[in-house]
Amino acid sequence: MKNLIAGNWKLKGSPNLADSYISHLSRIKPDNCIVVVCPTHDLLGYIYDKWSNEFGHLGAQDCFHDDTNYNDGLGTPDEIVSRGAKYIILGHSDRRNKCHETSELVRKKVNLAWNKGLIPIVCVGEESGDRKGNLTQIVVNGQIADSIDFDNLRGPFVIAYEPVWAIGSGNIPTMEEIGEVHDEIRKLLITLTDETRGGNTPLLYGGSADVQNASSILAVENVNGLLIGGASLNIQTFGTIIDCA
Ligand code: PGA
Repeated sequence: MKNLIAGNWKLKGSPNLADSYISHLSRIKPDNCIVVVCPTHDLLGYIYDKWSNEFGHLGAQDCFHDDTNYNDGLGTPDEIVSRGAKYIILGHSDRRNKCHETSELVRKKVNLAWNKGLIPIVCVGEESGDRKGNLTQIVVNGQIADSIDFDNLRGPFVIAYEPVWAIGSGNIPTMEEIGEVHDEIRKLLITLTDETRGGNTPLLYGGSADVQNASSILAVENVNGLLIGGASLNIQTFGTIIDCA
């Protein structure tokens, strides 16, 4: 399977960053990996106007869990689709922890994303206390099982394993630890779906992934790509990670 390299700009993008992406991606036209760029909702439209399919795909960060426009805040899935997004990051730890989003709410958003033809990138990951207490896999498996309606799968999805303590901290698990979690996620997905679907769902690693560690992480079995926050805010850095993939 091709690696999927997703850049999560969080709330930090700008038209200048979007322009630097367009200029870089139009030069390299990545085809050895799938590139997904996830700017803020306002920048989605800006970047979409200049986008070409040769660059990869656009993605959104989160959406409201109901598709009527008469709600306050967050983007509707329709608006996101109209701005060219194909992917959507859901269940990011910022949403789970800072906005108290439960896996049940994430599941609603996943279902809605499927209804609109979007591919959800479902984020899961343990807190440092969970890891110290040997609870990593219980937490991760629970979040996956509760965030996705496995009895009624209606579209493809991607899992991003992002240890909460690794996000933005410069600390990452060892390659063995990443491998262990990804192997278990793969087994879980095969159990909850089937060999083909579970075996072919992309599993991304996220949390302080950067140019220094990208190649090593991508070499770990059952890692099929990266979800990159801070290091995606510079196109040279992000471009080097694309090269690694
Ligand atoms: P980071 O963020 O790469 O800056 O750690 C990853 C994420 O939040 O998705």
